[in-house]
Amino acid sequence: MKVVLKNIEKRGYKGNIDSYLKEGGYNAFKKALKMKPDQILFEIKKSKLVGRGGAAFPTELKWEFAKKCKEYPKYVVCNADEGEPGTFKDRIILENDPHLVLEAMIICGFTVGAEEGFIYIRGEYFKAYEILKRAIEEAERNNFLGKNILGSNFSFKITLFRGAGSYVCGEETALLDSLEGKKGQSRVKPPFPTFVGFKNKPTVLNNVETFANIPEIILKGGDWFSQIGSPLSCGTKLYCLSGDVNRPGVYELPANITLKELIEKCGQGVRGKLKAILPGGVSSNLLTDKELNITLDYPSVQKAGSMLGSGAVIIINDSRCIVDLAKRCAEFFDYESCGKCAPCREGTKRTREIFANITQGQGNLSDILLLKELQEVMYDTSRCGLGQAALNAVRSIIEKFPGEFKEHISKKKCKLKICPM
Ligand SMILES: Cc1cc2nc3c(=O)[nH]c(=O)nc-3n(C[C@H](O)[C@H](O)[C@H](O)COP(=O)(O)O)c2cc1C
Ligand code: SF4
Repeated sequence: MKVVLKNIEKRGYKGNIDSYLKEGGYNAFKKALKMKPDQILFEIKKSKLVGRGGAAFPTELKWEFAKKCKEYPKYVVCNADEGEPGTFKDRIILENDPHLVLEAMIICGFTVGAEEGFIYIRGEYFKAYEILKRAIEEAERNNFLGKNILGSNFSFKITLFRGAGSYVCGEETALLDSLEGKKGQSRVKPPFPTFVGFKNKPTVLNNVETFANIPEIILKGGDWFSQIGSPLSCGTKLYCLSGDVNRPGVYELPANITLKELIEKCGQGVRGKLKAILPGGVSSNLLTDKELNITLDYPSVQKAGSMLGSGAVIIINDSRCIVDLAKRCAEFFDYESCGKCAPCREGTKRTREIFANITQGQGNLSDILLLKELQEVMYDTSRCGLGQAALNAVRSIIEKFPGEFKEHISKKKCKLKICPM
């Protein structure tokens, strides 16, 4: 069952407006134009679609809140920053079926009463940027964008904006600051962007994959969508499978698939012997072979002590040094911390230093306690999700592989051949 990749996986599909129209593209928008905004919201509510950018917030609620706001102008923003290591699904959508996202944003604008939208696209996505630029021009030429669209009273325009090359700019409030031309640093929440967003106006901000589900929901109805997957997590999910797996890639599957099925059936098994899994990128807690039977939906992964996030499933085999993995995660978050709040700014720096000491043979068993304490403080007191999740992987590595961690510190050297330590 494909919802998001239904066109992309068709032989000969080109992704331009002719291909898109041939597959029934923009019919969802034409249908939406004849519906009342509340009817559109009702279908999305019935679909039980939740955001695919990581936080799994109900999409309908965001749209409904924005629609109810009496402040104008309102805005629609598509988050195409895709900075989480191991995530590459949005790029596939944007490069191969850009009109799907444009159509969803237009439907969103019509529903909430917005006349302007932005796509905040990752700075390194040069090809996707060019493809989107062309797609916007095509949509304008065909009057799906512009003034009085298809003879209606509704006008909508979309502007492309290149991201600032920072992981934190994917966080919704940092993204909005960056879009406003400021340094990309997160704002205090609440107020949430739905009420006080771009230029302090009501703004619906959704992930690329979230938007890409909307046209099919409008065409086939919310009930149809909610029957895919499981009652816990409706619809399909795009999983980005990478790391030590035989067939890495982006797989769209009903959200009730198990981790084991994803690895075995789609990934054709682990390369080597399985050691650990990061189910939601480097911000998530590590899972092991004991958790292979969990279903890959948001509540189940959370119940197993981790998070699905944007669906970046990274497989780690037993040739990898777990302390090296923790060190790399620590370096990533230290590099990406925006420095606005002390717990994250100082905590990520201190963590990096601790790992530098460990790898230079200066580690101490008390480092384990210190890392746990740092994780707790950063989780409780950091201003945004980056700092809150920065030591998740490190903490879970300490807890799930205590022997290897301690052995590493006391032997002062890693016995694994491919570990650089
Ligand atoms: C550090 C950080 C980075 C994020 N990066 C992204 C991103 O690249 N793309 C994305 O859609 N959401 C990202 N998010 C989540 C967004 O803040 C936001 O929840 C999401 O875009 C909302 O869209 P959704 O409701 O459709 O999921 C990030 C969050 C944090 C804390
Ligand atoms: S948690 Fe980190 S990234 Fe977020 S505001 Fe604080 S310093 Fe910046």
